[in-house]
Amino acid sequence: MCGIVGYIGKKKAPRLLIEGLKRLEYRGYDSAGISVINKDKIETVKAVGKIHNLEKRLNSINTESSIGIAHTRWATHGEPNETNAHPHMDNDNLVAVAHNGIIENYHILQQELKKEGAEFKSATDSEVLAHLIASYIKKDFPLDEAVRRTMERIEGTYGMVVLCRKYPDKLVAARNGSPLIVGIGENEFIVASDASAIVEHTRQIIYLHDRELIMLNKDEYSIKTIQDIHVQTTIEDIDWDIEMIEKGGFDHFMLKEIFEQPEALHNAMRGRLDEKEMTTHLGGLSSVKDRLRQTKRIIITACGTSWHSALIAEYMFEELAQIPTEVEYASEFRYRNPIITEEDTVICISQSGETADTLAALREAKRKGALTLGICNTVGGTISRETDAGVYLHAGPEIGVASTKAFTCQLMVLSLIALKLARMRNMSHIQGDKIITALKKIPFQVKEIFESDKIIQELAQRFTYAQNFLYLGRGYNFPVALEGALKLKEISYIHAEGYPAAEMKHGPIALISENMPVVVIATKNSIYEKVVSNIEEVKARKGYVIAIATDGDKTIAKKADKVIYIPETLSFLVPILSVIPLQMLSYYIAVLKGRNVDQPRNLAKSVTVE
Ligand code: AGP
Repeated sequence: MCGIVGYIGKKKAPRLLIEGLKRLEYRGYDSAGISVINKDKIETVKAVGKIHNLEKRLNSINTESSIGIAHTRWATHGEPNETNAHPHMDNDNLVAVAHNGIIENYHILQQELKKEGAEFKSATDSEVLAHLIASYIKKDFPLDEAVRRTMERIEGTYGMVVLCRKYPDKLVAARNGSPLIVGIGENEFIVASDASAIVEHTRQIIYLHDRELIMLNKDEYSIKTIQDIHVQTTIEDIDWDIEMIEKGGFDHFMLKEIFEQPEALHNAMRGRLDEKEMTTHLGGLSSVKDRLRQTKRIIITACGTSWHSALIAEYMFEELAQIPTEVEYASEFRYRNPIITEEDTVICISQSGETADTLAALREAKRKGALTLGICNTVGGTISRETDAGVYLHAGPEIGVASTKAFTCQLMVLSLIALKLARMRNMSHIQGDKIITALKKIPFQVKEIFESDKIIQELAQRFTYAQNFLYLGRGYNFPVALEGALKLKEISYIHAEGYPAAEMKHGPIALISENMPVVVIATKNSIYEKVVSNIEEVKARKGYVIAIATDGDKTIAKKADKVIYIPETLSFLVPILSVIPLQMLSYYIAVLKGRNVDQPRNLAKSVTVE
């Protein structure tokens, strides 16, 4: 969602904060602002739009200051304008606050503070934090105590960094439900909502937990809970380096991430294949091995692209491991009263590990006694810390808002889990061997698909101005159709729908005409013939068919208008391959339309609000 950076140390804070904001820009990007302390004053500058608009105005604050906070916003309350941009101040400019999350009881607090004379300028929920903290400072509470008391009063989620001109050498940060990480440098600290703003300065970090606050001066820190209990914490190392979060010669992060998939998939598999026992080593699951063996049902919950992975995993777990599996949108799961028992395993899939709905679903599952597993990419995220066990993707940082390599690596990790579960139960050594052989080929097969780049670019040119797209698939390829449609929608803004191919005749067929490109994933499998019939139905209505087919399939070439071939693999692994051309098609169309591919309108990389 929004991004926060805070700095205290010896360096020039404004420049460092701007660089940090640029790294976080993918989280939210409708406006931004910086506050620094200059002697006994807080100076603030804000700008609507991208970070470079803010950068142009940087000279209006003291660029030498060595303490400051900054924020890039993705609007939830109040339209994107300078008044609503963070940091927010109280009326005496005593306190400045940058906040991620939602303060649910802001309205009540506002009324109370107004009676004490506070005047609110913005339409945000966040501004209340500045007034409330300032009211405690005016009652002579020290800064950390003022923040702690504020935490006691507020309901909702927050990651916040706070400056106070009465304490020009202190920075306080607090979190509840919105991630906050503290990087430890030499006589300096960088607070950020995401490690990407920190890695170029230090690899040593502290993860702040919910309902904790940290007080920093340039030489030391102390952490306490909302109950005022001192906390001893561990310092951890991040294993990303700066090249991993830069574009490396590609025009966009999304393109870089598409082309990184062979390597990412390799990393997701590395050291995890047990070629002796024909199963997988998943260290993150060893502590729960016995409960997993006894599990009677799996429920997978996730949002967006991660939910599409979950749908594919449902088919895998049932087919390979014969475990009844259900999939549910996290946003629905959290508000129903799902029937969950201690014999269930609830798997939460999340690239960021911070998605608010998935996190709430996880907490609901834990409350009801299920074994909980996390499949996350970002190391140390809240979901991976709160689940009983889990498996990381090792896909490396995904910066483009549209998920690509995280999706295929999720499928890889889910395949490894499916193989493990199957070998614990009913699968033979021979079958396990077949799967491992197929898994090892996948990264190379993804590379082969990149050779269709030219055909895909030609298709993108032909359909740049299409108004609608239909994506069809069956079995394992049905969720791929959903993912193809989502990818196109989010970055090109073309309306697209994904459907199980056989459902087309129950409604969407009415949309088909010569103006309707229909992408059909028609790889060789047990229902191939049926998908071919669906292609005939589209052709009979003059639709333009783009088929994703298995290498060497000559039949399909006669039926479809254009074919993109992918290598042959086992049915349950096909989605890792069949989604690649769809990612590429969406990317090229979006570029031709001049869209902001990495930061599409209205979207944020990590949705940490409901
Ligand atoms: C993917 O392209 C989307 N940007 C979005 O649907 C995303 O997958 C969803 O918000 C879930 O995010 P998560 O995997 O970080 O939980």
